Amino acid sequence: MTAKILDGESLATKIREEVANQAAKLRAQGIIPGLGTILVGDDPPSARYVAMKHADCAEVGIESIHEHLPADITQGDLMSAVERFNSDTRVHAYLVQLPLPASLDEEEVLLSVDPAKDVDGLHPVNLGLLVMGHPRVLPCTPAGILELLSANGIDLAGRHVVVVGRGLTIGRPLALLAALKRPGCNAAVTVVHTGVPDMAEHVRRADIVIAAAGHAGLVTRDMVKPGAVVVGAGTSWEGRKLLSDVDEAVGEVAGWITPRIGGVGPMTRAMLLRNAISAAMHSSATNPDAMYSDAMYSDAMYPAIVDSKAT
Ligand code: GUN
Repeated sequence: MTAKILDGESLATKIREEVANQAAKLRAQGIIPGLGTILVGDDPPSARYVAMKHADCAEVGIESIHEHLPADITQGDLMSAVERFNSDTRVHAYLVQLPLPASLDEEEVLLSVDPAKDVDGLHPVNLGLLVMGHPRVLPCTPAGILELLSANGIDLAGRHVVVVGRGLTIGRPLALLAALKRPGCNAAVTVVHTGVPDMAEHVRRADIVIAAAGHAGLVTRDMVKPGAVVVGAGTSWEGRKLLSDVDEAVGEVAGWITPRIGGVGPMTRAMLLRNAISAAMHSSATNPDAMYSDAMYSDAMYPAIVDSKAT
């Protein structure tokens, strides 16, 4: 391994400290920040992810409010759970852990989350604001990746970023974010996916490769330009072992690389906390004037993507 390591764990620790300070300030004002989670079924990786989110919340002083629903729940009962969280004043922000069992309509669920409580940034209103160039709450993994690159002095401006994967939670919003006319962004972005037969040809031309396909070992050493930055964001599981989309040997040619453990994962979780505390700070109960304003997306919250004048 010759590549330098993009250490998400230590950056996430700093972000958790910032969030803990913000949570303490809210608590001093009598506001207990609350993150809701809805888990449907017993998929072990999903259950592990949700448990980690609760542990993170406990560490930083955010209350977690959890609903664990059976895998055979009806769409109607799931929608009732969503409505309960929409109206529960303890819940400033929440998420429905994805993927849902195949019998359920994921899109209907995402559409029904109150956009002001959408900690994932996946409601069409929030995705639409990102498309318009005025994001309010950013999807956690894309935001975490940009923070991690920025903290290591890697500027995307004018560089060729190849995103592998077009999924809703990572690839698609990340491509939009990286191309925004904003400091820290301004990249030339290519998105490759299962519909692109010569994927490797595109990846070879990348200055920065972001693998977000959820296909273990998809990006191999021969596909990477020497010195390129390689971020493994997509994951899959072999039993309890977390696998990366990036083959280990890529570390021999890349300039920078995320580790399989302690790279993007902790950053995603840190951004979730940041979005949750931001929602609590800007909820109508806390601060009615700040609702739907740019305040929720400030340089204080997202230093990597400064919410200043476009460049
Ligand atoms: N499952 C995998 N990634 C995500 C995510 O970003 N949000 C939610 N809600 N579920 C996920």
